[in-house]
Parts: sequence; C-alpha cells; structure tokens
Amino acid sequence: MAGKPLLRVLSGTPVWPPPIWLMRQAGRYLPEYRALRAKVPNFLTFCTTPELAIEATLQPVRRFSLDAAILFSDIMLLPWALGCPLAYKDNVGPVLPPLTDLAAVERLALARLPEASRPVLETIRGVHAALPPAVALIGFTGAPFTLACYLTDGRSGEFHTARRMLRDNPWLFTALIERLTEAAIPYLAAQAEAGVEALMLFDSWAGLLPSSLFRRFVIAPAARIAASLKARFPSLPLIGFPRLAGLMLEPYARLSGLDAVGLDSIADPTLAAASIPASIALQGNLDPFSLLSGGPSLGEEALAIAGALRGRPHIFNLGHGVLPETPPAHVADLVHTLREAA
Ligand code: CP3
Repeated sequence: MAGKPLLRVLSGTPVWPPPIWLMRQAGRYLPEYRALRAKVPNFLTFCTTPELAIEATLQPVRRFSLDAAILFSDIMLLPWALGCPLAYKDNVGPVLPPLTDLAAVERLALARLPEASRPVLETIRGVHAALPPAVALIGFTGAPFTLACYLTDGRSGEFHTARRMLRDNPWLFTALIERLTEAAIPYLAAQAEAGVEALMLFDSWAGLLPSSLFRRFVIAPAARIAASLKARFPSLPLIGFPRLAGLMLEPYARLSGLDAVGLDSIADPTLAAASIPASIALQGNLDPFSLLSGGPSLGEEALAIAGALRGRPHIFNLGHGVLPETPPAHVADLVHTLREAA
C-alpha cells in the first residue's frame, strides 16, 4: 500500500500496526536536544532560528524512526507574531503582560503575521526537504481558547483571570477569541503552503469549560478554522486536541469538521471509539507516566490501547506530552513493541 502511514490513517484507512508519533517528541528528555538548546540562551531565539528548529524537529525522527515529525515551535509563537511581548522563564514557561482591555485585543496585529512567521515557515521548508519519505510533517497552532487563557492570565496556572473574564466581560473575551481565530487561519494556511502535510490544533485547557461555554469557545472556533482551511486545502488533514474535554469530545468530533481528534490520557479508547463516528481518526492516548516508568506495564498499556482501536483509523500517541524526565530508551521500547505487534 502506497503513501505515508500517518496520512493514510488521516484519510480514514485503518493501518496495523498504527503509525506513531508523540506530543513533545522533541525536547529536554533528549540529550541531543539539551546540547542544541545550550547554543542559545533563550527559548524564543531557539524557536525562531530555523537552523536550530529544523535540527530539533529532526532529532526524534532520526533516533526512533517515528511516523511523523512535528514542527519544532511553540503555541505561544502565534501571539508573539501578533506583537505580544513574550518571554520564557525557567520552571514557569511562557510569561507575558496580561491582556485586560479591548485596546490590547486590537493591538494583536494580523498585519505583522507574514513577516513574523517567516522563521517558522523557513523551518517547515527545511524539515520538508530533509525528511525520510515515509515520515509526515505536522504543523500546528494553539487553539484560540488555550491562547486566550495564556494571554489573559499572562502565565500558566489555573487561569482564574480567563475564567472570570469570559463571564464578567464576555464581549471582551469573545473579541479576543475572534481575533485569535482570525489569526490562526492565515498562520495555518501559510504552514500548509510551506509544506506541512497535516495540521493540529492544541487546545490544552479546553477542559476548563462547562459544556455551553465549551461549545462557544472551543467547538465554534475549531469549526471556523476547519471550514476556512478545508475551503482552501480540501485534502489537508486537520487534527484537534481538546484536552480533558471528557464527554464533550464527542460533540467536538462531530461538529468541528476536523479529520481526527486526540484523546487525552483520561479518555477511554473503547468508549471514545463507540461514540465518535468511524470516519474520524483517533489519536492517542498512552499516559506519559507509563512512558516515564517503562518496563512491562508500558508495553501492556500501549498494546491495550492499540488493540482497543484496531480496525479503525488510529494514530498512536501519548495523551499529553513526553515528560522531561523520560528515559529515551523507553521511547525506543514503545516504538519497538508497537511495530512487533504486527
Ligand atoms: O516536539 C514537539 O511537540 C514540538 C514542539 C512543541 C513545544 N511546545 C516545544 C516546547 C509543541 C507542539 C508545543 C506545544 C505547546 N506549548 C502546548 C500545547 C501542548 C501541551 O503541552 O499542552 C502548550 C500549552 C505550550 C506552552 C508552553 N511552552 C509551556 C507551558 C511551556 C513550559 C513547560 C515546559 O514544558 O517547559 C513551554 C516551553 C516549551 N515548549 C519547551 C519545549 C521543548 C521547553 C523549553 C526549553 O526547552 O527550554
């Protein structure tokens, strides 16, 4: 059968054993990443230096023969490209001045996007040229709700500011979501033009919302982004990851118009497969702590997931990103176990 396994699954064909890639497959758990990262002091500089970002993207693919590479970048690069002053602090993550009013929403400058996203697009072109033929390249953006959480609170946490703003000042929060949705569309379209073969929306904090607000701030923006991209790139597959969506994963999958949805570690693969139409591929969902611990339970948990989703389009992945303390040998074991499952 011809074609990259990951793209066959995304077009609706089950593949056994399932293709595999891992969220945060590039990063600090790899010694070669830490060596590369040490070349520049600042993570933003690292992400916007194509030579370094290309190499970071390729490192895990080379080491583990995965089925996909994911663009090395960060979800906060989109707000940064729109003009938000962004910094990364050790042990904190991204920090930026909290957005408090409509003037700040209006300062998010879509006009800056083509110039500011140039390094990201150059990284995509460089990776595209260097990838082994069976490996697919995935581009991504932060979904509007998760980006709005970081922009309003200014850093990671429980996002109390965002969760209050969307109720106390719904027109402001809605304006922010709309602006981020309008920015995500050309940002993803430019990634598609530069050579990514699939796109993913990371909505890491989607699970903070009750159902009616989830429909409004998670499903509706995803549907708008999907409709726009499908109009321009009808065969480009789109993956959504509304983390901790719980029972809202099913309406998200049905209503968003995406080709695949990511399951977090909490989701039960059998129940998800029973409720989500088989035309929509499922991605996931090994607990990152299983990969961290390794040993017999890693293989058992991984094969249970693959077995539960066998016969329907499934991309093997974690339910969230690789933890920085993970021994790289455990990733090699996981890939080996799955490939031997044939
Ligand atoms: O391999 C890959 O997955 C590609 C690169 C990638 C990064 N971040 C690199 C990164 C991707 C796809 C992301 C997505 C991302 N970034 C998300 C969505 C997925 C998720 O984890 O929920 C979120 C919420 C962010 C925001 C972010 N960036 C945080 C909270 C942090 C700090 C926490 C941490 O892991 O350090 C970052 C920094 C970051 N992004 C690092 C990496 C490799 C670590 C920084 C470093 O190496 O110095």
